[in-house]
Amino acid sequence: MSKNTYVMLIAIMTACGGLLFGYDVGVISGALLFLGKKFSLTDQGQEVVTSAVLVGSFLGALGAGWYTRRFGGRSANMLAGAIFVVGAFASAASGSAETLTMSRLLVGIGIGITAVAAPLYVAEIAPPDRRGMMITLYQLFITIGIMVSYIVDLASAPHWRVMFGLGAVPGVVLAVGMSFMPSSPRWLASRGRMAEAKKVLDRTLEPALAESALRDIQADLDSQKSQSHWWLAFRSRAARRALVITTTLAVFQQLIGINAIIYYAPRIFQKAGFVDEKAALWATLVVGLVNVVATFITIGMVDKTGRRKLLIWGLAGMVTSLGILGIAFKQFDNSDNQKTSQQASAATATTTAATPAASTFADVASPKDLPSTPEGSESLAWLTLVCVIVYIACFAFSMGPLVWVLIGEMFPLQARCTGNAIACGGNYFANFIVGATFLSMLTAFGASNTFLLFASMAMFALLFVLFFLPETAGRTLEEIERDLGEPSSSGHVRTS
Ligand code: BGC
Repeated sequence: MSKNTYVMLIAIMTACGGLLFGYDVGVISGALLFLGKKFSLTDQGQEVVTSAVLVGSFLGALGAGWYTRRFGGRSANMLAGAIFVVGAFASAASGSAETLTMSRLLVGIGIGITAVAAPLYVAEIAPPDRRGMMITLYQLFITIGIMVSYIVDLASAPHWRVMFGLGAVPGVVLAVGMSFMPSSPRWLASRGRMAEAKKVLDRTLEPALAESALRDIQADLDSQKSQSHWWLAFRSRAARRALVITTTLAVFQQLIGINAIIYYAPRIFQKAGFVDEKAALWATLVVGLVNVVATFITIGMVDKTGRRKLLIWGLAGMVTSLGILGIAFKQFDNSDNQKTSQQASAATATTTAATPAASTFADVASPKDLPSTPEGSESLAWLTLVCVIVYIACFAFSMGPLVWVLIGEMFPLQARCTGNAIACGGNYFANFIVGATFLSMLTAFGASNTFLLFASMAMFALLFVLFFLPETAGRTLEEIERDLGEPSSSGHVRTS
């Protein structure tokens, strides 16, 4: 097998961790429809089951820092696959809401571990000129996982046990497949196993590159030998900058509202005028497809065009599309508010209908209150569809993959596992917060302001990238560390 094929196989195998993540993001929406009835779950109960995965992912990500540092990325990915398999079967076999919640927590732990271990492991094995593309495969598999879960949900309804149980398949592939993959050379070297590290480098890189990589890794280790505790690694300027940059971007990846759009796309479309449920579901499937297809843009461009340009274009597109959505939905919120006050003044309204909360956007977000008559005009429906598609496409070629790429490649060796864990933990924490507050935000501020809030978050992220993100494309991990360690007055280095 040629070196290229071998490295590609490693990247694809590791990306199966993304499948677990994506499948789980999508599967719950379909399963909840039937779980709710089976376990007589209240709205809060459904929220607990849904958020258990995110809490588990947060814990898994934090624990993965220690585990990966000690046992390496290969072993961490195998462990994640195994935990996921147990969690998927336990979810499928659950007999009560409590066991289901615990099983979902377990699934989340598996996801959190791979989110740390997969990008890190691939970054440490890939050649510098293809590293971005190879880590992006992880995001590609997330988007494919989301699509597959939509299809499984449609095909296996109402059998929620099948929906959860099928999640074990990518878990098995990951756990078994990784056992045939090599350990990361940088981890081997950090454990003093230089001869094995050299063997892996010889199998994955061209001879000259393998030689210089080994020298760089050795020099990196020598310079950090005196540090007996992991936290001392963060005394270096490079590690601290990597931590601030990756954690900020990981948190902003969620604060710009991606999962609010992914989870609630059908209802947003219904609110905008695609009242027919089938039309709304089709529109959602289109969103899923765009998410997959646009990720290929990054696969093709990330190593040539660079990380910064893609992020800047993508974030600018997201600011624009969210801004237009915010303005377009203003007319809705206004007409909803008018309706509410008319209903209230007629004094015949029920408590629910008279509550602004129930008649703004929350009626769209909660299935039982879906509007039965068209509310949006046809043009608004189409404008919404276009804006959501532009938003998803821009996310899919920028913040989606590049956050994982940067998390994987920015940290110096000694700070890598812990740094990755903190950035990923931040991502899941923010994901949890947005999920937990999205409906309340719609209720409190209306759809229009919620979209405008996401737009302003995207604007902050754009400014952050412009001023603080150095270009890392084409550099070896050791060169990135040197770049980040250089003091620079403008706060960024190598911007093109
Ligand atoms: C994000 C997920 C999101 C997915 C959508 C990932 O990069 O971390 O939260 O659901 O992209 O494609």
